[in-house]
Amino acid sequence: MEVHYGGKSLKEPTNLMRKTAAALFPDCSEEQERFLSSLLHPEERGSALVWTKEAREVPLQFVTPEEIPSWLPGEIALLAPGEKPGSTEQYQRGDYYPLDFSSVLTGSALLALRGERTADWKILDLCAAPGGKSILASQLLHPALLLSNEVIGKRLGILRHNLARCGLTETFTQRLSAEEWAAQTPSAFDLSLVDAPCSGQSLLAKGKDNPGCFHPSIVKGNARRQLKILRAAGETVAPGGYLFYSTCTFAIRENEGVVTKLLKSNPDFSAVEVPHLEELRSPHSEFPSYRVYPHRSRGAGGFVCLLRRRDSGQRNEISNRLLSYPVSGSD
Ligand SMILES: C[S@@+](CC[C@H](N)C(=O)[O-])C[C@H]1O[C@@H](n2cnc3c(N)ncnc32)[C@H](O)[C@@H]1O
Repeated sequence: MEVHYGGKSLKEPTNLMRKTAAALFPDCSEEQERFLSSLLHPEERGSALVWTKEAREVPLQFVTPEEIPSWLPGEIALLAPGEKPGSTEQYQRGDYYPLDFSSVLTGSALLALRGERTADWKILDLCAAPGGKSILASQLLHPALLLSNEVIGKRLGILRHNLARCGLTETFTQRLSAEEWAAQTPSAFDLSLVDAPCSGQSLLAKGKDNPGCFHPSIVKGNARRQLKILRAAGETVAPGGYLFYSTCTFAIRENEGVVTKLLKSNPDFSAVEVPHLEELRSPHSEFPSYRVYPHRSRGAGGFVCLLRRRDSGQRNEISNRLLSYPVSGSD
């Protein structure tokens, strides 16, 4: 597959890519090369499905049982490379939602919460369109309420369409900024998800162009935006609740850098271990955080950190006003 960067065919890594690789793998030039090569020579990686209905029959090929990680829950299935999950009748009916494997890996941090009483939980997904993490959280945790939010108006339609097609119940959409959520629902959610807008460096490993994604000004701008969203999202978390932060990029200034700043300004949060992701543990933070790399896994790339808020202080209710747009019956 030919790779394009800023519209031009890319035969060699750029200097900024090399700089990023050197920061990620400072002690291993061989690993730097393998990482860069996986960006320059994208492979067919195969998708995953999140089952959303009882029906689990679909005319697609799955990976062999030996290729399934032991921690993978029954709600997720891995397709063989080359399978096109958007092409079936079952997809149209909403029997499943396709996710790439990086999203499965980062989203699987939610499995660490399965021992909690999630059936009573209220979840906010702050950056929800087109809906992958909302659907995953709904299927893995079965919360009492899911508020799926997308601030960019033109992305709200696809979000509502996907959630409705997959038959999510007790789910409502909204279109508010993170700051508006912080002001209107402080200390109200058991879990707030921030699958953040980011520089998207892993898109290259999927064969997609993403001009400027390694440029320091793009990385810096995204890190700043993420910190703003994450701080506001933190305010929405109830005492003892959780904050989930993920990206699909490699830059340390986003990812670990953003969490480091959050922990400094919000000492009532601490990062939580996710035991099944231990192999992906980031060496770039002292707190537990996890990285997906394209040369090490089926996933094109990503980052996740799960945080918990100290269990003290008052929990607030969610105003009915925010529940005006139910998903069920809307499609
Ligand atoms: C990585 S995508 C989310 C993908 C989605 N969680 C999923 O799994 O399908 C990031 C989302 O953040 C939204 N976004 C962009 N700027 C934002 C901001 N300032 N505050 C909140 N969300 C923003 C984007 O519109 C986009 O839908």
